[in-house]
This record gives sequence, C-alpha cells and structure tokens, in this order.
Amino acid sequence: MRFRSIDRRQMNYYSELTVNKDLAKEIRMYNLGGELTSRYNSVFDKYYKGLKSLIVRENVWQIAFAVLSSLLSCFFFAYIALGVFEGKYLIGDYSLYTGALTSISGSVTALITTSATIYEGTLFIDNLLSFLREKNHVVTRVKDPLVPDFGKAHTIEFRGVSFAYPGTEKPVIDRVDLTIKAGETVALVGLNGAGKTTLIKLLTRLYDPTEGEIYLDGHDLRDYDLTELRRLFGIVFQDFGKYAFTVRENIRLGALHREEREGDITHAATRAGADAFIDRLDNGYNTNLMRYFDRNGTELSGGQWQKLCLARAFYSNADIIILDEPTASLDPIAEQEVFRRFDELRGEKTTVFVSHRLSSATIASKIVVLENGHVEEEGTHRELMDQNGKYAELFRIQAERYLEENAGK
Ligand SMILES: Nc1ncnc2c1ncn2[C@@H]1O[C@H](COP(=O)(O)OP(=O)(O)O)[C@@H](O)[C@H]1O
Ligand SMILES: [Mg+2]
Repeated sequence: MRFRSIDRRQMNYYSELTVNKDLAKEIRMYNLGGELTSRYNSVFDKYYKGLKSLIVRENVWQIAFAVLSSLLSCFFFAYIALGVFEGKYLIGDYSLYTGALTSISGSVTALITTSATIYEGTLFIDNLLSFLREKNHVVTRVKDPLVPDFGKAHTIEFRGVSFAYPGTEKPVIDRVDLTIKAGETVALVGLNGAGKTTLIKLLTRLYDPTEGEIYLDGHDLRDYDLTELRRLFGIVFQDFGKYAFTVRENIRLGALHREEREGDITHAATRAGADAFIDRLDNGYNTNLMRYFDRNGTELSGGQWQKLCLARAFYSNADIIILDEPTASLDPIAEQEVFRRFDELRGEKTTVFVSHRLSSATIASKIVVLENGHVEEEGTHRELMDQNGKYAELFRIQAERYLEENAGK
C-alpha cells in the first residue's frame, strides 16, 4: 500500500479535478475531460497490474492451503470410517471423532486467519505510527514561553533573515534586515515571486528562518507561545479560505476564542465594506454560503469573498494587521474605500500590506521593495521617488498607463 501510494494519490487527484466546481469552466473550455480520464486510466492500469500480482499470489496460497486442509480432513474422516467398518470403533465414536476434528481444524484456521489479520494490521499501523512520529519543527524553543503584550503597538525586526523552503536549496528570502516600528504601516512591493508572501509566512511563524532571527518587541519569535503569538495577527492571505458556513460564521472564524458581542460582526463587515452586499442577501448574516450542503446556499463573487475575508481580519481585532494583496479582486471603488477605511481605522496598530496597485502604497509610512528575496529599497513614497530607483520605475509604469488611458478618451 505504501509502495503504491503515489499511484493512488494521482488517481484521487485526477478524479477530484474532474468534479471540481471551480475548474469546471476550464475543463469544458479547454476540453480537458478526455485528457484527465486517460491520465487516470493509465495510472489505474499500472496500479491494477501491481495489485493484481499481489492478489493472485495471495489467493494461490489460500487455495493451496484450503485444498491441503480439505484433503487432510477427508483422509482422517475416511480413516475413522474405516475403523468403524472394521469394528475397531463404535458408530457413536465416528461422530465424536469427526466432530472433534472439525472443531479443532476450525479453531486452528481461526487462529491462523486472526494472526494473519493482526500481522496485516500492524503493517498498516506502522504507517500510521511513522506518520504520528513526524516531528513538528515549528515549536517554542524555551520551557517558559513568553506571551505577547496584547493591546499595544508592536515592533518587528528581521535580522539577517534567510530562508529556503524545506526540501529546497534556493534561498527565497536572502539576508533581509528590516525594522518595522510600533504603529508603522508598511507596504511590501515587488514583482511576482519576489518573496512577499514568504516574508509574511516567516513573520507569522508558519516557518522558521533558515538563518537569522525575527524579533517581536525585542524577543525572538521562537521564545513566544505559538498559539498566543499567532493570535497577535489578523491576516488576509492571498489565497484566503472560503468556508461553506453562514456569513456570520465566516466572519467569526477570525477570533473563535472571543465571546461574540452584539454588533461586533456587523461592525467588522461595515469596516470591510461588506455590509452592503450582506444586507441584500436573503437571510442577511445567516445566509449559508456555497451550495455544498444547502440547495439554496449563496455563491459569492471573488470580490465579495475578499470583502468577507477582510471583515474576518477586522473582527479578529488583532494587534498586527497583515493584508496580502487584499484588494486584488476588488473593483477600483471598493479598493479605494477599503484603503481609506484601513488608513482611518488602523489607529495605533502595526500593519503590513502587500499591494500591486502602488497608488495604495502611498498611505504607507514605509514602503519596502523586495526583489529576489532581498530588500532592494525602503523609504517613504517621497524618498523612493526622489531616489529614482526600482519603486519609482514601477510607479511611473502604472501612472503612465492611467495617463495614456485618460489621454485616449
Ligand atoms: N511552499 C513553497 N515551497 C517551495 N517554494 C515556494 C513555496 N511557496 C513559494 N515558493 C517560492 O518562493 C518564491 C517566492 O514566493 P512568494 O513569497 O509567494 O512570492 P510573492 O508573494 O512575492 O509573489 C517563489 O519563487 C516561489 O516559487
Ligand atoms: Mg504573494
């Protein structure tokens, strides 16, 4: 089973693709159905061939043993019958001995099958045990872990941080030194694959740096209690989760540990600009989302989901707010509104956001330009424009596009 697990995973993967709701569009438009089925079939053939030889071997042995034990039984039965015939045994002895023989052979068979089942079971349990023995590498490294000071602004410091994803060699983050002061708003800017999301994963301790340290309020992240540390962050990931729960539950996931107070949810939704579309839903905040379990469930658009996810981050009321391309699916009006509110509401909180629309980066107190995993430039919008480097180039490209479009009108 272990040997064939890649085959099984491949088969599961292909068959899931063919029934995936989100891929249905592409599978039809590119006509991928046949390709996926034939890939499934070729893996299945390979898998089945391997499995067949195993099953055949197992069954040949089983049949051989069944034949042998039947022959033995027949022999003894005939032997006893012969004894009765010759007058050595009474007729009652025949039923006594054959009965005993049947019950003994039944018990021995049961013993053998049970031990075989136990043996087979231990093979599977070995897999489970070795899975359970897998060590969690992201753990608190001290005996008495620290608890962050909740309810105040925090400083964050990266010192010589490098990082390569486990099982890879290439450093995705390369000797980053970066200080984010308490209450600062930092915009991470950079091309696709520059390492922005990875930097956020390191900050929230989803991974530990390969080299260097990250400090929160002067203490290494690894000295904090992991659960408490993560409660510090209200985050919208680039690939955020969509849950087939109600609207209210989707927002409440941002802080399950907290008692829900009247108005908290609607307040968070308003801050994220999600209240307008939620109010138009049939059951408002109690509308079931997606149609996995509810025939009348509501499917939201990409931008609506994104607003809901922002509401989740605001509901968490966390000390550090992190938004990874939070407005990528929003219309320009919604985007501007989100950043305006965000700017207004972040108060004293330390915040980090990633955005490709540089017009939004102008609200940041510090802009950090990442390139190939290292900090290429950092400073305010004004400073970076004066420096006339990478940021200024990116900014001008975007600005020109808008100007050209205006000029064309
Ligand atoms: N889970 C992962 N395993 C291995 N490499 C990854 C993983 N996630 C991202 N990468 C690599 O890390 C680099 C930076 O990715 P990312 O931080 O997501 O970029 P950005 O958010 O700036 O677009 C990319 O080259 C990507 O291929
Ligand atoms: Mg990213």
